Amino acid sequence: MGEKTKMTTDTKLGGQFHLSGTAISVYRMGYGAMQLAGPGVWGPPRDMDAAIAVLRQAVAAGVNHIDTSDFYGPHVTNQIIKQALHPYPNGLVIVTKVGGRRGDDKSWHHALSRQELIDAVHSNLRNLGLDVLDVVNLRVGGMMAPTEGSIEEPLTVLAELKRQGLIRHIGVSNVSRAQLAEAQGITKIVCVQNFYNVANRSDDALIEHLAKQGIAYVPFFPLGGFTPLQSSVLDAAAASLQVTPMQLALAWLLHRSPNILLIPGTSSITHLRENLAAAALALPSDVIAELNAIAESVRAEAHPAH
Ligand SMILES: NC(=O)c1ccc[n+]([C@@H]2O[C@H](COP(=O)([O-])OP(=O)(O)OC[C@H]3O[C@@H](n4cnc5c(N)ncnc54)[C@H](OP(=O)(O)O)[C@@H]3O)[C@@H](O)[C@H]2O)c1
Repeated sequence: MGEKTKMTTDTKLGGQFHLSGTAISVYRMGYGAMQLAGPGVWGPPRDMDAAIAVLRQAVAAGVNHIDTSDFYGPHVTNQIIKQALHPYPNGLVIVTKVGGRRGDDKSWHHALSRQELIDAVHSNLRNLGLDVLDVVNLRVGGMMAPTEGSIEEPLTVLAELKRQGLIRHIGVSNVSRAQLAEAQGITKIVCVQNFYNVANRSDDALIEHLAKQGIAYVPFFPLGGFTPLQSSVLDAAAASLQVTPMQLALAWLLHRSPNILLIPGTSSITHLRENLAAAALALPSDVIAELNAIAESVRAEAHPAH
């Protein structure tokens, strides 16, 4: 790492975040397991030993927050997590999500009926080898943005399953602020998982709103997801710090707000190590200013005539 980059020594994996009103504290740098399934998040991975090694390496490095879902694979990702890590070490928090299903053609669909949600919770329990799920996110909306509308019905089902003791805590995913408010009237919400990264900043105000309440904001696609982040501003800033653009994108997110928890996804041990190392990167203020303006630059690059 370059001269401008300072390493902090007292904040392993970005330090811990306590989920307000729970007994859960996790390191801010976690791991998203979606990339462990085969191509297109479908079927077994090309290299099962490598997938298992990535999970074990993450936990060995201190990661205690893994994000998953039973519709990754489907079932495959949870089965790999169980194979690699069960019996789970104390303190490991596996956060899963329900509300989706896959078609035979690998398509993604909502699965928000009462029976689908009950089945999904039981399927997650079975495939992860757990008696109770630490945190379950109810995933609604579109993939890239929330779609307005009541989420009362599906959330009420999850709240019932929580009362039955199958779920400890509930989060929501792909939600608007109005849907969050509705959700908070039904049950305690401990985290929100929406699409957000250095180039996609629609949730800036929501993040502040959640931070005031001690609710975790967990951005999915922190590295751009299926379309990796591409920005000349990010590339140049990363080069000046002698880190990779992906490391810088993660470090920016950690700097963005203390309630942001990261779940970058990777199937590669090399990328995992790079991503975890990003938690120790201290950003100079001029670089933060450049990155804060990046959403505008990305828009300009995508639409040069405007
Ligand atoms: N709630 C929702 O609707 C929703 C939607 C999508 C995802 N998620 C969750 O969010 C997590 C993260 O999202 P994601 O994995 O889709 O997207 P992501 O973390 O933004 O990006 C993953 C992609 O970046 C690559 N990558 C990772 N680290 C890298 C590095 N250091 N250098 C270069 N490339 C790197 C990965 O390829 P390699 O495998 O080659 O490293 C993969 O192609 C998922 O695991 C999932 O748990 C939730």
